[in-house]
Amino acid sequence: MSVDLDAANYALSGLRPFPVAVTTIDGDEVNGLISLSAGAASIVPEAPRATISLTKYNKTHDMVLNSGVFVMHLLAAAPEEALEDSLEILKGLGGSSGRDGDKLSRFRTKPGVTGAPILLDTLCYVEARVVKTLDMDESTLFVGDVVGSERFGTGEKLRVGEAWKRLPREWIEQYDTNHVPQLASARRYRGLPEDGPAGH
Ligand SMILES: Cc1cc2nc3c(=O)[nH]c(=O)nc-3n(C[C@H](O)[C@H](O)[C@H](O)COP(=O)(O)O)c2cc1C
Repeated sequence: MSVDLDAANYALSGLRPFPVAVTTIDGDEVNGLISLSAGAASIVPEAPRATISLTKYNKTHDMVLNSGVFVMHLLAAAPEEALEDSLEILKGLGGSSGRDGDKLSRFRTKPGVTGAPILLDTLCYVEARVVKTLDMDESTLFVGDVVGSERFGTGEKLRVGEAWKRLPREWIEQYDTNHVPQLASARRYRGLPEDGPAGH
């Protein structure tokens, strides 16, 4: 059976338009990344659950797996000042790995109920304790009970399409370069040849 990969990738793209800033704490170390995999994982309004999927290549993956806690922040699209803060967070957390040095100390934070850092220059967040994980070979799907939440702003959530339009070209080029070993790692975990087409 052959799959129309263009059709499949078109069908699957853009399903989750809101990037989130994920932070965590493991022992005395804090870190975080940007993810497009955030979702709600319960229909029960008085007991909300959140889900994220993190690539095994990323340091934040190992830290959440170990500590069982994460915070998922939505970024603000407006006003302009808040959008600038959102882009700084996106560039700061999504542009390099915590393996290469601290990414969080330049941002305003406070500790959440789990001790994980809450990014204050965001729109809102949920803080979660992991209750289920699913090993997906290249990544892990985490489901967490929400144990803390706050809303800092009233504006719209930033969509990834808007963010890409505003991010500097050099940053995007660097992101694409960083993505190459991440994709190769994912293919290795899936038992696939490493030199397939470029992805995003
Ligand atoms: C828009 C965007 C979406 C991303 N989505 C994910 C994701 O869903 N899961 C993931 O593990 N990494 C995702 N990444 C990549 C990580 O944010 C990036 O590799 C980060 O540098 C990892 O940092 P760490 O090694 O400190 O954890 C995304 C990056 C961007 C910019």
